[in-house]
Amino acid sequence: MTKKILVLPGDGIGPEIVAEATKLLEVLRREHGLVAEFEEAPVGGAGYDAAGHPLPEDTLRLAKAADAVLLGAVGGPRYDTLDWELRPERGLLGLRSELNLFANLRPAILYPQLASASALKPEIVGGLDIMILRELTGGAYFGKPRGIRTRDDGVREGFNTIIYDEGEIERIVRSGFEIAMKRGRRLCSVDKANVLEVSQLWREVAIRVSEDFPDVELSHMYVDNAAMQLVRAPKQFDVIVTENMFGDILSDAAAMLTGSIGMLPSASLDADGKGMYEPIHGSAPDIAGQGVANPLATLLSVSMMLRYSLDEGALADRVDAAVSRVLDQGLRTPDIWTEGSSKVGTTAMGDAVVAAL
Ligand code: NAI
Ligand code: MG
Repeated sequence: MTKKILVLPGDGIGPEIVAEATKLLEVLRREHGLVAEFEEAPVGGAGYDAAGHPLPEDTLRLAKAADAVLLGAVGGPRYDTLDWELRPERGLLGLRSELNLFANLRPAILYPQLASASALKPEIVGGLDIMILRELTGGAYFGKPRGIRTRDDGVREGFNTIIYDEGEIERIVRSGFEIAMKRGRRLCSVDKANVLEVSQLWREVAIRVSEDFPDVELSHMYVDNAAMQLVRAPKQFDVIVTENMFGDILSDAAAMLTGSIGMLPSASLDADGKGMYEPIHGSAPDIAGQGVANPLATLLSVSMMLRYSLDEGALADRVDAAVSRVLDQGLRTPDIWTEGSSKVGTTAMGDAVVAAL
């Protein structure tokens, strides 16, 4: 069956890096048996420019009809003065909640060729390959009640609610087990069960779900300790599953273990494996239009799309191998360049990956 892929270039470097991804997808289709069709639509600032809204109705309709969505990045100084609801970032949040993308996968992999780019010593971080699974549509970022109010004594107070029901916990933890089954079969559930009731429920559900996965070793860790362990001995982890805010913070910390933000892909999935795939970086207005952005995070996002939404794991392996080969060849965009390697731009990097495929 022909898979439908919706491509959303967005703003800033978004169109530049997404052009390399569509080039790759086109070659996968022509020469490697991928049965897919692509369509492109505006989102973010580009959506505002084209249709007066960061998530135009047509774009949302196409996203709902697609098997997978590939997004570049949104945002830029040109849009900073717009009303809150018209800001490019609202387009991205709208897509996540409208498509019910509750499972956010952020792999943190250190390529051996880039070992010197990490902030940690090689013996601590060398060979790092962990997966952080962050719950993306619940917790404090969405929980009600929320707001800022003035008390009777005239003092203002701000408040948010961390709330998860059993169903929400179960589906994300279950995803964690399923991912762990395909990797090293170890799942670490991160919570704050010594202080938060919501975490007690989280832990209880995690233990219950673990009965369905006897081959996966489940462990539990408090989030403050997890933050420390990620920096002290990150390789002890295989898969980490955690709630929205904890995952937001831990995954950013894990990202920096691997060097450049231009290397890190992500997947956001719904219950049926439909997903949105994007590099974790933003629209990088400081380098937009210069042809120097690193497209590898986006190409690796295509790999995740092949693996998680298109049932093309073998093709995903090939894309991963092609990226590794290009790094072996010493090709580097400026963000990952070090003395002695060859500096290339966005297009040359994309061409090299296609050639290595
Ligand atoms: P950013 O990720 O766009 O840039 C941070 C730094 O990393 C910049 O120096 C940039 O040049 C560099 N960088 C990012 N991607 C790179 C790549 N592929 N190759 C080489 N260097 C790269 O974050 P920033 O500057 O905080 O935000 C810029 C805009 O992007 C804002 O409007 C922000 O709201 C938006 N944003 C959008 C996101 C998304 O679409 N998912 C995520 C984060 C920010
Ligand atoms: Mg974050």
